[in-house]
Amino acid sequence: MYNEAVSDKAPATWTEVTARVAVGHRDALVAWFLNRGASGVQEEYPSLGTLGEDGPVVSGCLGEWDDEEPDNPGTDVVIRAWIPGPGVLNVGKVALQRTFPGVEVETREVGDRNWNRKWLEDWQTTSVGQRFLVCPAGKVPRDTGSRILLHLTPGMAFGTGTHFTTVGCLEILEEIAGDGPLPGRVLDVGTGSGILAIGALLLRSSEALGLDLEDDILNEARTNAELNGVGERFVTSAQALTAGTGRFDLVFANLIAQVILDLADILTHVTARGGHLVLSGILLCHEDEIIQTFESRGLTLSKKKRNDDWVAMAFAKPTL
Ligand SMILES: C[S@@+](CC[C@H](N)C(=O)[O-])C[C@H]1O[C@@H](n2cnc3c(N)ncnc32)[C@H](O)[C@@H]1O
Repeated sequence: MYNEAVSDKAPATWTEVTARVAVGHRDALVAWFLNRGASGVQEEYPSLGTLGEDGPVVSGCLGEWDDEEPDNPGTDVVIRAWIPGPGVLNVGKVALQRTFPGVEVETREVGDRNWNRKWLEDWQTTSVGQRFLVCPAGKVPRDTGSRILLHLTPGMAFGTGTHFTTVGCLEILEEIAGDGPLPGRVLDVGTGSGILAIGALLLRSSEALGLDLEDDILNEARTNAELNGVGERFVTSAQALTAGTGRFDLVFANLIAQVILDLADILTHVTARGGHLVLSGILLCHEDEIIQTFESRGLTLSKKKRNDDWVAMAFAKPTL
């Protein structure tokens, strides 16, 4: 049953994006693609020949390909990524060129990617932190214990609860909530599947606003919110984050470090006094810069979750 539903949902076309950058920008470029919903990423080192011809060498976690990195890769790396839907890079191409000046980019439409369908079929119920159980719709286990079920449709937006950048945020979320309800209003910048906003609403935040770049992603987030019975308290928008977006007691931004740094003033502004700002999508090499940036704006680092590649952090904004 579940597999059939997945087959129906898998898109017929994908945008294949090929970008060539200096080797030093490899991790940041891969993170950029994953942030845009890429389900597979392949690397090639032109001076060594092509690697991984059979499909993606990475799906989700950078740590998976540590062993495959060549000792002497040369000066440039070519990263190829597959993003669901036709022409999705029309918006992203400009942002890619802004983030990686001098990047060479090509895009083309390609047919169905069976490996992605396979990944969706393999997606399992996942326990996250102490309180959440993330369930692909139709795969709810019989025994869920006392965990809070967070249902997600097997769509294409980022945020299935299997990637550390999301898990770190959910763990921080449940720590902030403690034993009581979360206070007030939530802003989720880069909402993807809506998983973080939905998690906060399930922990009894009053309302949430989810921002993302494309309507397709926002449709998925809204579907997921309905699925979890919190649709009436969840609003989505494709408008860019500005100081006028409002003030929120809890702000999530699971983006990449460069985007977070670019948005530092606005993210600080939209966090209400006494509120929390949760940042993720940060490779360890950017940790110090992020802490310095937000502490210099008057916030205090309050929580940190890390694995071998990524760090998620929470900052508290003083009440006065
Ligand atoms: C890593 S995903 C996070 C998804 C989800 N919040 C989670 O934690 O799993 C980042 C999301 O941010 C969106 N995004 C990237 N840059 C953005 C920006 N400047 N404004 C709003 N959304 C952005 C991407 O489209 C993507 O859906």
